Amino acid sequence: MSLYVVFEGIDGAGKTTQAKALEKYLKKENYKVFYFHEPTTTKAGKLVKEMIREGTIYGNDAISLAFALDRIMFKYEVLNHALREYDVIIGDRSFYSSIVYQKTMGLDLKWLKEVNRFVIVPDIAFVLEISIEEQMRRRGESDIIFEKKSFQEKLIQEYKNLLSYFPNYNIIFINGEDSIENIHQQIREIIKKYLK
Ligand code: ADP
Ligand code: TYD
Repeated sequence: MSLYVVFEGIDGAGKTTQAKALEKYLKKENYKVFYFHEPTTTKAGKLVKEMIREGTIYGNDAISLAFALDRIMFKYEVLNHALREYDVIIGDRSFYSSIVYQKTMGLDLKWLKEVNRFVIVPDIAFVLEISIEEQMRRRGESDIIFEKKSFQEKLIQEYKNLLSYFPNYNIIFINGEDSIENIHQQIREIIKKYLK
């Protein structure tokens, strides 16, 4: 079985940067590595991307279900197989994003946990934490609802709450405002312990 590692955090936190840096490093060390991003490449993944890009007549209940369906379809289409074939799976977002984002949209935590009950739980989740000011510096403010400042502020708090929602899961908080290289080194040191 592979080690399944995911990167979490608000938009602009540095997830893709760190996921790709880790992928590059592990491949150089001769590990078989599989990277993927959520929402994924499934039909539900394409649907949910349309829903959040264009706005939709469907409410946040439908959006939550579409994110969860994408995750479950991806499990059957790709992830189950990848977990047998690769040493390390790197997920750029995961079900934790659903808990944080969809709860911030007003959905009930217990229901969100239930809807995501059959997902494969990552062995390690790195939450990259940045402030709203740092996010603005990196991305600028945009109009779409997911990127509104007040929404992002709530997301930052919900990420902090994750540990209390899942006290038995391995969630590691990292200062995302450190340099790209320092963050990468910290992550490497943690991953090395798991790969021994
Ligand atoms: P995410 O995948 O979380 O949305 P990205 O990895 O795409 O974030 O990074 C968003 C932007 O911030 C990119 O321009 C990236 O180069 C920059 N960035 C990423 N990590 C850092 C960091 N530690 N310090 C400064 N800028 C960073
Ligand atoms: P995307 O453009 O892929 O953003 P990013 O590169 O930052 O991951 O859009 C995904 C958006 O969907 C992002 O704002 C986070 C949100 N999202 C949820 O609301 N719930 C989820 O379960 C997932 C996986 C993402």
